Amino acid sequence: MPDTTPRGLTRLAFGGDYNPEQWPEDVWREDVRLMREAGVSMVSVGIFSWALLEPAPGEYDFGWLDRVLDLLHEGGVRVDLGTPTVVPPVWFYRAHPEALPVREDGTRYEFGSRGAICHSNADYRAAAANITTRLAERYGDHPALAMWHVHNEYGVPVSACYCDSCAAHFRRWLATAYGTVDAVNEAWGTAFWGQRYTDLEQINPPRVTPTVGNPGQALDYRRFADATARENFRMERDILHRLSPGVPVTTNFMTALSQCDSLDYWAWGREVDLVTNDHYLITDGRRTHVNLAMAADLTRSVAGGAPWLLLEHSPSGVNWQPRNPAKAPGQMARNSLAHVARGSEGAMFFQWRQSRRGAEKFHSAMVPHGGTGTRVWREVVELGGSLDALNEIRGTRTVADVAVLWDWQSWWAQNLDWRPSEDHNARERADAFYEALYDRHLTVDFVHPEADLSACPLVVVPALYLMTEAAGRNVTRYVENGGTLVVSYFSGIVDEHDAVHDGAYPGPLRDALGLTVEEFSPLLQGERVRVTGPGGAEFDADVWTEFVVPHGAETVWTYADGLTAGRPAVTRHRLGEGTAWYVSTRLGQAGLDALLGRAAEDAGIAPRDGLPRDVEVVRRTGESGTFLFAINHTATDAKVPLEAPGTELLTGERAAGRLALPAGAVRVVRLDG
Ligand code: GLA
Ligand code: ZN
Repeated sequence: MPDTTPRGLTRLAFGGDYNPEQWPEDVWREDVRLMREAGVSMVSVGIFSWALLEPAPGEYDFGWLDRVLDLLHEGGVRVDLGTPTVVPPVWFYRAHPEALPVREDGTRYEFGSRGAICHSNADYRAAAANITTRLAERYGDHPALAMWHVHNEYGVPVSACYCDSCAAHFRRWLATAYGTVDAVNEAWGTAFWGQRYTDLEQINPPRVTPTVGNPGQALDYRRFADATARENFRMERDILHRLSPGVPVTTNFMTALSQCDSLDYWAWGREVDLVTNDHYLITDGRRTHVNLAMAADLTRSVAGGAPWLLLEHSPSGVNWQPRNPAKAPGQMARNSLAHVARGSEGAMFFQWRQSRRGAEKFHSAMVPHGGTGTRVWREVVELGGSLDALNEIRGTRTVADVAVLWDWQSWWAQNLDWRPSEDHNARERADAFYEALYDRHLTVDFVHPEADLSACPLVVVPALYLMTEAAGRNVTRYVENGGTLVVSYFSGIVDEHDAVHDGAYPGPLRDALGLTVEEFSPLLQGERVRVTGPGGAEFDADVWTEFVVPHGAETVWTYADGLTAGRPAVTRHRLGEGTAWYVSTRLGQAGLDALLGRAAEDAGIAPRDGLPRDVEVVRRTGESGTFLFAINHTATDAKVPLEAPGTELLTGERAAGRLALPAGAVRVVRLDG
């Protein structure tokens, strides 16, 4: 059994991507000295080093990496060792030009960046297996080795390749999934527009077509591309398990929905020994700490609730957005500890020393161009100290209050072309519901629609367009057994092949919700409607309305204007022991908050009163105790009520009653008991 925690790491992980090959050797000694000064416990090495490790086919140069690993080991720094398979050397591409991936329009990418990989290519697979084998043989039991870091961020920047070897591989994948061409025809509905195939050999990837192509084919191609990348991960992982037994194997995910949309992380989470994640703040004017919390919750959920590790985030600004602001003083620590609060066993960065050359020289680093006399470096050293004070939280688990159903495959389906409105966006609904829950200080577990829901007092379904019959039964049973469900519009519409469920919408949810939807009526751009209810309640909505017909559900709020005026906008259905809410329009944040307040009441979740909106409070619990994390994202001092007295670990002070939480500060209290 491979271990799930980095070998020999006795502290929280703190460090970053370390690329010593960009620097002369005399800098390496200085690096290790500074790592010790900052309290670095682990670094990721060798992720992009294939061209140096194998300068010509079958010719290896491991000397420099031997020296790096030995130096780090002497310095007490553990190593997360990369397999460099995300960038094969140029000699490989010149010998195998067809390993470069092809776009939908037939153009082939060129060498000279990174991640240019066709995962179906047999020569790539053989070369990747070979370099992985060589590394595992040489370093599999190196005393510095803590874990293996396979590849880098599968799924980006190329999410799918459309070349001829992918076409052949896709046909094999279809043969396994469907057996016969008739089963493919049936699933894809090829009776439409005369798309019928008579032989699997006739099927190509969904390349550029004059107008919209077959949605079933497009959806299956996303599944195929995801599965093909996973085959290559498994290939490397199995080599590492065989030659380096007991050392955990990971690959760095990017669970933030804004950062990778091509992998089904539910499936990937089952393949890795330890879930790791990369997270970068998207500075688009929204509250970045909410997006961070959502990505961290999603990562923990992919890990099945077990501890995971933040493998990359940025010490300050990045360099790949249109505008790249620096982080505010203290923000790096707040970001890092927010990930830790939500289950990360440490905080690692991209990268250790800021590059002087190449495409990422303006990306911040732990050791900036300006060296150690800088604010970023001082904050890095301070964070190292803070993490050291929190070591006892290792192995504890984050406590969640509510569940949100999420499925990457449903998201893929919903993003296909020719939907009722391009203003409706599944990710936007997921973000909005998450934000409303965050604002109520509720911690979220994301859950696959077919997973056991019985332990969740409240289950929220933001926009689950694709739902299997099994998922529908799962949700219905959950309500019957006493659960509280909130479903947003455009859920339960199609099955796994993007075929509309039989009968009225929303097929597998009709019984749970006690209603049918006769028709969608999306609004024009900028158009709004009002939704009203008892006690003078009135909320704004936009983007989407529906003609809802209750069959047992009671109408709680009604459309006050628009085509659907006078009809139900929000309903509530008692079924068995439970309650199911339905919202048929895009409520603004005020309406969403009111809706979730009512549902939380049904679920028996007590309101978390007395906390400002941007004061984040999360708990981790386990054998070493219960730890309350409080993070103040505001510029105002705050007080956080404590359920028990305890010891604040960052200051060492006792705390009781109401914990003082200065503006911008983080506090972690080990509660007595
Ligand atoms: C990704 C990559 C890193 C680096 C960072 C920059 O997460 O894994 O190699 O490019 O982005 O933000
Ligand atoms: Zn290909």
